[in-house]
Amino acid sequence: RSAPPATMVIFGASGDLTRRKLIPAVLNLARHKRLTQQFAVVGVARSQLDDDQFAAAAFGDADTRSMPSLHGGIRYVSGGYDDPATYARLAELLVDLDTSRGVAGNRLFYLATPPQAFPKIINGLAGAGLNRPTGDSFARVVIEKPYGHHETSARALDACVHRAFDESQVFRIDHYLGKNTVQNVMALRFANAIFQPIWNRSWVDHVQITVAETLGVGSRGSFYEHAGAMRDIVQNHVLQVLALALMEPPASFSAEAIRNEKVKLLQAIRLPGDRDIDDLAVRGQYTRGGTRFELMPGYREEPGVDPLSRTETYAAMRLDVDNWRWAGVPFYVRTGKRLPSRVTEVVLQFQRPPHLPISAAQVREMDPDALILRIQPDEGITLRFGAKVPGHSFRVRSASMEFSYGDTFREESPEAYERLLLDALIGDPTLFIRSDEVQQCWRIVDPIIDRWSQDDRPIPTYEAASWGPMDADRLIGRSGRVWRNGN
Ligand code: BG6
Repeated sequence: RSAPPATMVIFGASGDLTRRKLIPAVLNLARHKRLTQQFAVVGVARSQLDDDQFAAAAFGDADTRSMPSLHGGIRYVSGGYDDPATYARLAELLVDLDTSRGVAGNRLFYLATPPQAFPKIINGLAGAGLNRPTGDSFARVVIEKPYGHHETSARALDACVHRAFDESQVFRIDHYLGKNTVQNVMALRFANAIFQPIWNRSWVDHVQITVAETLGVGSRGSFYEHAGAMRDIVQNHVLQVLALALMEPPASFSAEAIRNEKVKLLQAIRLPGDRDIDDLAVRGQYTRGGTRFELMPGYREEPGVDPLSRTETYAAMRLDVDNWRWAGVPFYVRTGKRLPSRVTEVVLQFQRPPHLPISAAQVREMDPDALILRIQPDEGITLRFGAKVPGHSFRVRSASMEFSYGDTFREESPEAYERLLLDALIGDPTLFIRSDEVQQCWRIVDPIIDRWSQDDRPIPTYEAASWGPMDADRLIGRSGRVWRNGN
């Protein structure tokens, strides 16, 4: 698969995301020969730079001269996002590139700015007629997260986007969908017959989804203050992984078939009534703490953070899915910064056998059977089950079978952004979020965020490098279960 001729226009060209993710993705696509010579990158931002200064700032030491798809094709437009003159200059440059680089009028607009700028850019593009492709060419817009601040603002943003672009031109990005192991959830479930029969309420006791990070908020304090763990990770990454893990088998792997199933699953998630929220959702904020080797500051001591901040850096909740496959099965999801290890995983824990011909003491020695989908960092799958301990007596202990991506496949997998950028250039929306999905995801998290914003009790805390607030253990413990903390 390789990209068609196109100009990629990056708004927010001098930002962190461009430098850390987008430019490396472009470079990798160029190195892996996924781009043609008819390719150009145009940076747009407020800073006053010329083409060479932008190329130097964004591409650093990379030897773009040796890459035909980039050599001579890196341009820059400086200007305000609400100034029509910016878009007039951009339009002129794009027409010039159509002929000078032979990009055939194809344009991919990438919105990598803070979200406040999204409507300005959409309106600016439409004002200059850049939203409408000519002839057979395409004009697509990739929009970064956060997509709205709650359901109402997400709908307002959609209304603005849809005034300018048809939904088929819109690619809302969630980089978790670009991860190979996230896509493997679908391969495991739908390219094999053996897992489907046990993938339901008859066999599954409960499911845990964890996105744990060891990092704190670092230099992103002022952004994070307005987000918090629920908006930053749960509304998007966690619910996307959950939807892929729980949805019904799609009839085909077409973008619409898969996204329809995800939406149906998200629609089936039960909303907590007002009174239930405290029993079903837990938040926390990290305080100073650490390991033997490193002392870490508390969240309120991080740069850009209000010393009295009430923003959550940890969120956990129990979800219930009201459909035939999952009725009665609890789903526990959690995410946090400054947890003891970096791990993203989906754990399906299975029920105990209906009758155990071994002693109660032995049962306690055995962990319940589980299938663990290790999304990162140690990519793979573990199947945990009971096995006979060698010896004269009949004792059973937990054992596991491991599949490791790295050991099994020699091929390197592309970075999430590399994969998604190529899909957007090709025009495959399968791994991008549709408008109705975004709204469903906000519908699920909004009531909890609202409740927390009205709750004036002190926010629960947890020490940096610990597994979150005590309340999270109580949340899962209420049904007699425990979190899998690397056990
Ligand atoms: C981003 C969040 O979307 O995902 C960050 O804004 C978070 O706060 C990051 O650190 C995690 O991504 P990954 O790929 O490192 O798991």
